[in-house]
Order: sequence, then C-alpha cells, then structure tokens
Amino acid sequence: MTSGASRRLEGRLIALGVCGSVAAYKSIELVRLLRAEGAEVVVLMTKAATAFAGTLAFQALSGHAVETDVLGLLPDNRIGHIVVADTADAIVVAPATARWLGAMANGIADDPVTAACLASSAPVVVAPAMDGDMWTHPATRANVARLQDVFGYRLVPPETGSLASGQTGIGRLAELPTIVDAVVATVGTRPVRRPDAADRPPRVAAPHEADLAGRHIVVSAGGTAEPIDPVRFIGNRSTGKMGVAIAEAALARGARVTMVAGRVEVSLPAEAAVVHAESTALMREAVLDAVFTDSADALIMAAAVADFRPRQTADHKLVRGGSLTLELEPTEDILAEVGRQATGTTPRPVIVGFAAETGSLDRAPEKLRRKGADFLVANDVSEAGSGFGTDTNRVQILAADGSREDLPLLSKRDVAHHILNRVARALDARDALAHTGRPRTES
Ligand code: CTP
Repeated sequence: MTSGASRRLEGRLIALGVCGSVAAYKSIELVRLLRAEGAEVVVLMTKAATAFAGTLAFQALSGHAVETDVLGLLPDNRIGHIVVADTADAIVVAPATARWLGAMANGIADDPVTAACLASSAPVVVAPAMDGDMWTHPATRANVARLQDVFGYRLVPPETGSLASGQTGIGRLAELPTIVDAVVATVGTRPVRRPDAADRPPRVAAPHEADLAGRHIVVSAGGTAEPIDPVRFIGNRSTGKMGVAIAEAALARGARVTMVAGRVEVSLPAEAAVVHAESTALMREAVLDAVFTDSADALIMAAAVADFRPRQTADHKLVRGGSLTLELEPTEDILAEVGRQATGTTPRPVIVGFAAETGSLDRAPEKLRRKGADFLVANDVSEAGSGFGTDTNRVQILAADGSREDLPLLSKRDVAHHILNRVARALDARDALAHTGRPRTES
C-alpha cells in the first residue's frame, strides 16, 4: 500500500475508459494503482472491452457499477456517463483502440467512453494499444493528432514489444506506472471538481468496515436560532453539511445515530433518529438526553451553537421605530456541560468538539481543555474551501493527549471518516481498559 504522504490523487475522482483490446485485462491492475494513489475510480467500458475483461472485477475493485451502456441510468435516474463527465477530475482511456480514436476524433458518441469525454470539461489522458500497422496507419496518425492538437488530450504513447498477434513492434500499452504518472501530471494542482459524494456516481460497496456496529453516536448539526420575537432570531451561517456527513459516515460504519439538528439547509439521513432543537436551550436538553439517558458511546458536537441570546424574547413582532437595543445574555455551553457530566460516568462517552476559528488555530488546545473533550476538530473558516456551506474542509484534529493530526483539504465525507477513525479507536481502547484493566496502545 502506498503511504499517505505519497498518495498523489487523494480525494480525486478518476474515470477510467476501457476499450476492446487484449490489454483490457491490464486496466484491472490500473484501477488498483489509481486507488492506491488515493483516487476514487469509476470505470466505463465499450461493448468490445467487456468481451476481453469482465465488469465484475472492475466493480469489485472500484466500488462503483461499471458504465457499459450509453443509455444507462443510475438507480436515481441520473444519466450515468453524464454524472461521470460532470464529476471526474480526469478521464483516462486505457487501452484506447484504433476504433475508439476514430470515434473520438469525430465525436461519434455511441459508447460510454466517447460520450463521457464529449460531455466533459475534465482533462483526458489517452493510452492507446493496438497492432503496429494500425498504429502507424495514416488514419490513426490523423486521429491521434486531432486528439492531441485540437482537443488538448494528453497522449501516453504505446511502447515497442511483443504484441497479441505474436509479432514484435510498436503498439503495446504503456507501462501502468507511466499512465498513472500522466494522470497525476494532468490533474496537477487543479481544485477537486466535485468532492461531495452525493454529486458523484454512487458507490455499490460500503467503503468502510462496520467498526461502529453496536455503538450509539450522537451528532449535533446546523446552527442554533435564538429568538428576538416571533419572526426574528439571531442565527449563524452553519448549513449542517459537516454534521450530516458525520452522521452518514457513522451509519455506513454500522452505528446507531441520533442527530440533534438545529437549523440545517441539507436533508438529514433517513436512517438516523432525528431530534429537532433550534435554540441553544432546546439543543442542550436534547443532547444531554441523547448522551446520558440514551447511553451514547460518543458525542460529536458539530453544531454551531450561539454564545449569546436575547435576555428577553418579545411576544409580538417588534415594530419599526427608532433604534433598538438588544440585551444579550450568555447561553449554556453544551459541550462543556457534557464534558463535566461525563467525568464519573461509566462507560464514559467519547466527546468530540469543533472549533471554527478565523485566522489562527492557536486557541484550539485551550478550548479542548476548557470543554473537557477528547478531540477537538479545528478549522479556519476564513480559508478558501473550508467552512460554512462548502463541500470540503481542511481541519486539524487535536487530542486530549496533546497529539495533533493535520489533514489536507478533503471532502467533508472524508473528514468525517478521519474523525470517526479516532472515535472508533478511542472506544476500542476504552472497552479494552474496562475489560482488562490495562490500557491498549493505539495501533
Ligand atoms: N459549543 C457548545 N455550546 C455553546 C457554544 C459552543 O456546545 N454554547 C460547542 C460547539 O458545538 C463546538 C465547540 O463548543 O463543538 C466550540 O465552539 P466555539 O464556538 O468554537 O467555542 P466557544 O465556546 O464559543 O468559544 P469562543 O467563543 O471563545 O470561540
């Protein structure tokens, strides 16, 4: 397995187009290499390609259904090759046959690989494989020139060696690491196009083991609203995306999930038990109830909770007049209260807080201690791609033992899984200690 530091396609979606050549079997290994670089891979195949290599191996390795039909629809009725075209960070066609080069050069979209390329603004890498005479034929030369010079596609030329025909010559598919390097170079430092899993083609296999099965995880999400009068409130910019991503990830890992939702702009997972709690006071009640009465194994406090609320709430809508002065009083600190109550609770729930800061994360270690949390997920919401309403986040995970994990800019789903990795390990360590009386070292 490639180490984390050298995963050059982390968070990317790479579409792999496979055409009908003997070299199609090599594309199965190409999926594995792209995934080892951190990419999510979705495979499109021409009809002829499926005669050389079955779809099952591609599906098992990629975790996505294989697109074989240009008329194919996803389970939610979206058009398969269009979803790929709109979300892929790069399309790599390997092996590309002489027929495919001709179809692509002329925009004949009668297979899903050509159709996706035509419909996409993503960069395209083409790695041909064919008989030597086919490769040198003027028709193929012209098609390749058009793809490179007019369409701007990156060519990974075939190499010289033994061919399927038994002859030796030019036409062998380039070495797979060379193709992976070309994909990495093509993607470069462009931002991830569509990091949100909901936009991308759906996965067919759970990407994570059920390491939270039997656990009850409470997740708060969204922003609180502190009423001024019956129509106005003090709120904030939280949309609930991060909390929902955590709840969905926890469900995928087998947990029972209670969501305590403030004001959210995204739909909540149907499999979670949802408690709506708009004000800080209601959220406090709901969180304490879910954590202590319903014996939670962990609380992940992703909600943006107000620090102040109007001391008085007017019964009637305030009418326009001169100036208006609102007197604010501090709200309850829910996380700190859970932290205090949890001390002395057996088994003690794992507590995760968030810290949305602007400019510097220097205050995070002090906040972790003050709130009595096991982990604090800190981010700078003023940074591009991080914060309210985005699909991505760059966070640091601080632990009560003083350690710190700095994560790169990731989709909120991937951030959620990193947080849950810590929670799952902390719960396993907690239980091991309870059973044996001996601490278990983190693996
Ligand atoms: N939090 C909470 N109750 C509050 C305020 C915040 O439970 N009344 C939780 C948030 O859900 C978050 C963590 O505490 O998980 C940190 O929130 P943040 O607003 O960054 O911290 P504050 O306590 O507001 O500290 P400061 O205003 O100094 O930044």
